[in-house]
Amino acid sequence: MIPKKISIANTPTPIHKMARLSEELKKNIYIKRDDFTGMEWSGNKIRKLEFAVKEALDQKCSVLITCGGTQSNHARATVAVATKMGLKVHLVLRGESPDSLEGNMLLNELMGAAITWLDSEAFKNHEEVMSELSLKYAGEGEKAYIIPIGASNGIGNFGYYDCFNEISKQENDMNIHFDTIVCTVGSGGTYSGLKLGQLLNNTDHSIIGFNISNTSEYFKDVISEILSDSLDIIDEKSIKSQYNRDDILIIDGYAGCGYAISRSEELKFILEIAQSEGIIFDPVYTGKAFRGLVDQIKLGNFENSENILFIHTGGLFGTFSFENQIRTVLKK
Ligand SMILES: Cc1ncc(COP(=O)(O)O)c(C=O)c1O
Repeated sequence: MIPKKISIANTPTPIHKMARLSEELKKNIYIKRDDFTGMEWSGNKIRKLEFAVKEALDQKCSVLITCGGTQSNHARATVAVATKMGLKVHLVLRGESPDSLEGNMLLNELMGAAITWLDSEAFKNHEEVMSELSLKYAGEGEKAYIIPIGASNGIGNFGYYDCFNEISKQENDMNIHFDTIVCTVGSGGTYSGLKLGQLLNNTDHSIIGFNISNTSEYFKDVISEILSDSLDIIDEKSIKSQYNRDDILIIDGYAGCGYAISRSEELKFILEIAQSEGIIFDPVYTGKAFRGLVDQIKLGNFENSENILFIHTGGLFGTFSFENQIRTVLKK
């Protein structure tokens, strides 16, 4: 049985066509606005948190502990959900307490999150640090629930399984079939949830991800593991035995200089889309992935896809921390 969730995201999120880009590329490019899932919890993480936090509440937990980078959208969304549900929240963040409060960090502070800072070396042991914090809270009579990076695990995965079903219903309502569904791959949970939906519904959608760090081979392993955990949760053995790691389609080559590092060509691309479609992609995730999609279409690698759906997974608050770099590419 599919696990239960709390319902707090603003769903279904709308799907609309990107008019000018579709015309230019001679493809029907649609966008699903998962950046509209909420304000404080805007983006993709809320869908995963709906399942994770349900489990936390069922286990009578009183504190959520999670981790990420300084500008983690997942961390900010977790703070917002915890606060909404009357739970305490503790973040383990990579970096140093910043001098100026920008983007997601400003919101974390506004909502009163407890934060433990770890430098990059110490952050390699973030899982141990979260376990130690959980013990500390237990000593204070609190029960903590640990959510891994990006809530990308077996339970969080049902968030994008749910989204896949939402898309299927929207296809019926819109009388359209999306040949390909495209998303950003950061910790793997958005892709693996969509893939879970495609596998369980046995549809012919091609699910394609663009990684914004690491390599496609790395993410094939990560995603296989998340999928396998979800299939265990619902005791689905037949798909587990048929399922092939090579069905996971991740296109490498668009991570640029690495996680959260932007080159001017990447920022210029974000600017072009903002000025032609009125849609803001963020420099860390959606900007790189969508740039990959447009480039691959131009290279002729999406010949068999007429209708393409890109999932806008959010990230607007993080964009505000790129002010200085964005200024360098602004047209005078
Ligand atoms: C805005 C945004 N888009 C995409 C992603 C990638 O999603 P996932 O971690 O599920 O791969 C993330 C987080 O990693 C994100 O914050």
